[in-house]
Amino acid sequence: MATSDISGLLGRRSFLRLGVGVAATVGLTACSSGSGPVAGARIGPGSPKVADAERARRIAGARTTSTTLTAVTSEVDLGGVRVQTWSYGQLPGREIRVRRGDVLKVELKNQLPEPTSVHWHGIALRNDMDGVPGLTQEDIRPGASFTYEFAVPDAGTYFFHPHSGVQLDRGLYAPLIVEDPADGAEYDTELVVVLDDLVDGTERTPDEVLEELKKNGMGGMSGMDHGSMPGMSMPKSELLGGDAGDVTYPHVLANGRTFRDPQTIEVKAGQRVRLRLINAASDTAFRVGLPGARLRVTHTDGFPVEPKEADVVLLAMGERLDAVVTMPEGAAPLLALAEGRDMYAQVVLRNPVTQMAPAGEVAVKQLAALPVLMATELRAAEQVALPVKQPDVVHDLVLEGPGQKYDWTINGKAYNPDDGLPIKEGQYVRLKFSNKSQMFHPMHLHGHTFQVRGDGGAGARKDTVLVLPGRAVEVDFTADNPGQWLTHCHNVYHGEAGMMSVVSYVE
Ligand code: C2O
Ligand code: CU
Repeated sequence: MATSDISGLLGRRSFLRLGVGVAATVGLTACSSGSGPVAGARIGPGSPKVADAERARRIAGARTTSTTLTAVTSEVDLGGVRVQTWSYGQLPGREIRVRRGDVLKVELKNQLPEPTSVHWHGIALRNDMDGVPGLTQEDIRPGASFTYEFAVPDAGTYFFHPHSGVQLDRGLYAPLIVEDPADGAEYDTELVVVLDDLVDGTERTPDEVLEELKKNGMGGMSGMDHGSMPGMSMPKSELLGGDAGDVTYPHVLANGRTFRDPQTIEVKAGQRVRLRLINAASDTAFRVGLPGARLRVTHTDGFPVEPKEADVVLLAMGERLDAVVTMPEGAAPLLALAEGRDMYAQVVLRNPVTQMAPAGEVAVKQLAALPVLMATELRAAEQVALPVKQPDVVHDLVLEGPGQKYDWTINGKAYNPDDGLPIKEGQYVRLKFSNKSQMFHPMHLHGHTFQVRGDGGAGARKDTVLVLPGRAVEVDFTADNPGQWLTHCHNVYHGEAGMMSVVSYVE
């Protein structure tokens, strides 16, 4: 049969090379679980439909913001500790800030010893700029460069990182802020806070950590010399309903600094600060709060929510959250407690008039006792809420692991770019994530902002949702951005160990 010849020839690279408009019939059978080879013609990154969708996003008179990003091996200062890592020149990388509707043009120069890529996390962009090697583009080889260019349709707090192996667990990340003067938050000043866990600085690289996890299989835990840490066990968290992480980290960071030598900014008492919180960590969820002040949560994953007051918020890997806080008298540490680990990071907000020392350990204890708001409790603001209606197609994604070789799977399978969950343009799609493992999974979808289905119907619009052990979470979205889009766990080790799948637009 002709089609089977084609599918036999179609390695993932040739699939990409086929490029524009060629109906690449990959596989012959539709699998009832929905995650087998995709039957029908995939709408690939080179399809004219992708270009059409981009044209529709371009608005008259849009500005183009151009910048260059160089991925390098470098030494960074974490505040008294200097470590060798891979970065975009500093930690976090320099923020990119655009206005909603702008075209962003970024030339990435790869000076790393390995191929890399850039993924624009949360942005509903054109598929061929999504930065997933083997699915939407070729690797960017060492010494090579690649220019990303796309319209940025939605305002909000985003970030970017490589989608190549476990490079996210290096220092390769930076904020992408998309401004919209009418986005609903009222504030005097802004503070972007990027949280991270960093393995570099130990003798081990993230790749070696992954190798070790695979060797230990179901045993988990890597990143440090176990011998020197008797009694070391997996981090646990009641809040996360089980294991809190698989890797031991020497540092957790807020804006690239350890808690010992934090970034300090001056804010006058009474000023309203818009916090833009980004969890760029690979294996760590954070509780964030400012002891003595309430947070008014206004957005999650870039999109507005019905404002909600909270003492503490939880951010899993890949999640963002915006909250406005009114600066109290004196100094206030904005604390980020690494969930299930005895570690924290902070940014100190200091009143230029009353110079007080930050409260440190006492504040950490105080914060740890306060109730935590989960993003799954939030509701979309009216102007961004999707209608609550019956989906045209439902895909189940059963999350399992770790297997004998630290395999993390979706519907019993490890990632294969030629498999996918077929959908059609215009459909109202529901994904149902069911977590059958002992560990939480922040499940992320590329190219779309779904709506979490809460008890009362519409939860928040998000692109990354926390799925707790033993729980199921349903999310809905409108299929309005043709292409091949990853959905995966934003624990970079789970993702690399297989917990990724493709939401695949077909003709
Ligand atoms: Cu932030 Cu597929 O990732
Ligand atoms: Cu996971």
